[in-house]
Amino acid sequence: MGEDEGDQGFVRLVFEELPLEQMHANAEAFFELMDGRRTTRHFSDRRVPRELIETAVKTASTSPSGAHLQPWTFVAISNQALKLRIREAAEEEERKFYEERVPEAWKEVLDPLGTDHVKDHITEAPWVVVLFRHSQRKRASGEMSPTYYSQESCGIAAGLFVAAIHNMGLVTLTHTPSPMGFLRDILQRPEHEHAMLLMPVGFPAQDARVPHISRKSLDEVSEFLE
Ligand SMILES: Cc1cc2nc3c(=O)[nH]c(=O)nc-3n(C[C@H](O)[C@H](O)[C@H](O)COP(=O)(O)O)c2cc1C
Repeated sequence: MGEDEGDQGFVRLVFEELPLEQMHANAEAFFELMDGRRTTRHFSDRRVPRELIETAVKTASTSPSGAHLQPWTFVAISNQALKLRIREAAEEEERKFYEERVPEAWKEVLDPLGTDHVKDHITEAPWVVVLFRHSQRKRASGEMSPTYYSQESCGIAAGLFVAAIHNMGLVTLTHTPSPMGFLRDILQRPEHEHAMLLMPVGFPAQDARVPHISRKSLDEVSEFLE
């Protein structure tokens, strides 16, 4: 490639090679950081500056995405009246889920986590961030066309969001009220946007608790073929 490659719509990759020792140190430090992440359902109402949420969304939006369509919208809500409306609608759906709809096999793995239909975290956390996945995009002609691998793309973006929140010293909960259609109505999103995750963000409550769980070992989650 010549020096004029920028003219073709490409630029040179910015890549700084690290000494091997540094690579090991960075890898280990990042693992330790992420291994300390936990999902809590108990939030303090302590204020969190909007700029921190903006940075977490910008971080999430660095995610790779199918055909670089970035098929997501993060709706960040601090308005208490709106959070209350969302909580009431979520609790109505969740009550039906826990009392009527939950299949036995799902209940078996939920019981140890102590979840139920009461969703205090939606009104207690200072921010609730709802991730909407776009199943379609508007072309320059105005015609609607599909997005590609939007589930995978939004899953990765959500992972980066969760990592960014943890890295800045806050906590979040990846909540999936089932079903989630009410979020599109309350937040007035278009038909081609689908709520995927509802994430309260904030400081943990003083007495926040988490289920006593362990993570699978490397051997259990991987196979190396050399
Ligand atoms: C896609 C997804 C959906 C989840 N849905 C809920 C949920 O609706 N309610 C809830 O309390 N936790 C939910 N969780 C949180 C998990 O229960 C939690 O991540 C898991 O128990 C592991 O705990 P940890 O995040 O502290 O490692 C969800 C997590 C993911 C990734």
